[in-house]
Amino acid sequence: MLVHRRTSDLRAALATVRGKGDAVSFVPTMGYLHEGHAALIRRAAQLAPRVVVSVFVNPLQFGPREDFERYPRDPDRDLRVAAGAGATDVWFPAASDLTPPGLTVKVEPGPLGRVLCGKSRPGHFRGVCTIVAKLFHVVQPDYAVFGWKDAQQLVIIRRMVADLDFPVHIEGVETVREADGLAMSSRNSYLSAEERARAVWLSRSLFEVRDLVDCGRERRSRELEKHAAAMITQRGGARLDYVRVVSLDSLRPLRVVEPGNTLVAAAAWFGQTRLIDNVRF
Ligand code: PAJ
Repeated sequence: MLVHRRTSDLRAALATVRGKGDAVSFVPTMGYLHEGHAALIRRAAQLAPRVVVSVFVNPLQFGPREDFERYPRDPDRDLRVAAGAGATDVWFPAASDLTPPGLTVKVEPGPLGRVLCGKSRPGHFRGVCTIVAKLFHVVQPDYAVFGWKDAQQLVIIRRMVADLDFPVHIEGVETVREADGLAMSSRNSYLSAEERARAVWLSRSLFEVRDLVDCGRERRSRELEKHAAAMITQRGGARLDYVRVVSLDSLRPLRVVEPGNTLVAAAAWFGQTRLIDNVRF
């Protein structure tokens, strides 16, 4: 496995690959890699012989009062997980290369970036789109793999790629969960044992919503949202940011669920830690 730091090094290495006609797949990450990231890397390895993983905690997508400084970092663990999952290249971009002080041109995702997480994190998806566009320009991948864990991000990246004609196929991978259902996340490392025990109610509430719909007992969004919100706040003891039933393609609110086009997304604070999760059906 090759390790790159300078943008110019990675560009040079990949020019050789493309010269041979080999396809490139790409998994952008912010590091502190876990089994969720590993699943993306394994999928990327099925798609192309060359598998690039980037590790960059992107300052553009953090708000002024968010956790950029204390976001967990462990490059040795990242190298181990990436190698174990089949990465051929790991890229640790330098902030001076990717986000130099003079950077002013941004990629604006539009209305999709202003709902759900975009409402509580203004500018977050602009920061994500800007950095992913830059990463795509350097790597020029044939395939890029994203997790459904961040459903809104995946929907927005697909729209960016379509609207701005990036020649890349976007692949989605199902959310990888702990045994009790909690979605894996680098931010789970912030949770105390007591918060970790309560956090399971985030996923449980969403599974319950899916069950209520599956067994035909409820299809009104408002009722489903109320049900999940009560579980997250009362059983989970969390401070709810949002729980919304929206259409998978437009992220617009649905009055009743639409089988095949429904996303139920939630975000909640367990102590100082904001967790997100979702189900689709
Ligand atoms: P990060 O949170 O590190 O996630 C990197 C990729 O891993 C994302 O596509 C995310 O959806 C996926 N992922 C995280 N946890 C997962 C899980 N439990 N199951 C499946 N996939 C999971 O998302 C980002 O970084 C950044 O916004 C980034 C795209 C790198 C831009 O900075």
